[in-house]
Amino acid sequence: MEIKNANICHDYLNGVIEGQEVITSTKILKDARHFYECDDKKLSDDTVMYEVYMYSQGNSKQRGNLNWGLTVMKPVYVNGECNMTRGHFHEDLDCAEFYFGLGGEGLLLLMDDANHCWAEKVEVGSVHHIDGTIAHRLINTGNEEFKVGACWNTTAGHDYERIEDHPFTVRVYKKEGTIVTEER
Ligand code: PA5
Ligand code: NI
Repeated sequence: MEIKNANICHDYLNGVIEGQEVITSTKILKDARHFYECDDKKLSDDTVMYEVYMYSQGNSKQRGNLNWGLTVMKPVYVNGECNMTRGHFHEDLDCAEFYFGLGGEGLLLLMDDANHCWAEKVEVGSVHHIDGTIAHRLINTGNEEFKVGACWNTTAGHDYERIEDHPFTVRVYKKEGTIVTEER
């Protein structure tokens, strides 16, 4: 019997996802300024906000195949508002997703189709099931890198337009060291 090495390696607590077929992308502030309520001119356009690592094996158009991912968010505050991902609904609302905390601390902000928001606290070891119909956004509320793993269907897709048309109704700030959530 042939014993093969795994295609990728994920050093959960101290590293990232590594392997030839891992796709990485970096979100810089220039492309994220519009996520925030007030721009912060003190922060340069090339400030790294978050990095996404993604691996999918096989035909990504085949229903049932899975992606394995990692998001690494920097401890950046934009006029006091916590660093957050763009956030999205899935294009295929039948496709759920798992998120799991791997480093730092933050929130998983969730929103249903009636624009009702709630959040789950994400920390090392926490596991979060996101129903396919629920919008999701990660928020770094800490002072270190916030690392969150993910597993989802390759056919789920990311619907960002729906979030631009119907933004999350809660914003998260750090004020004098305290996390404050504000309804909009
Ligand atoms: O698929 C996911 O839910 C994640 O991998 C996200 O894409 C990642 O956290 C980045 O968030 P967004 O795509 O909303 O910018
Ligand atoms: Ni998703």
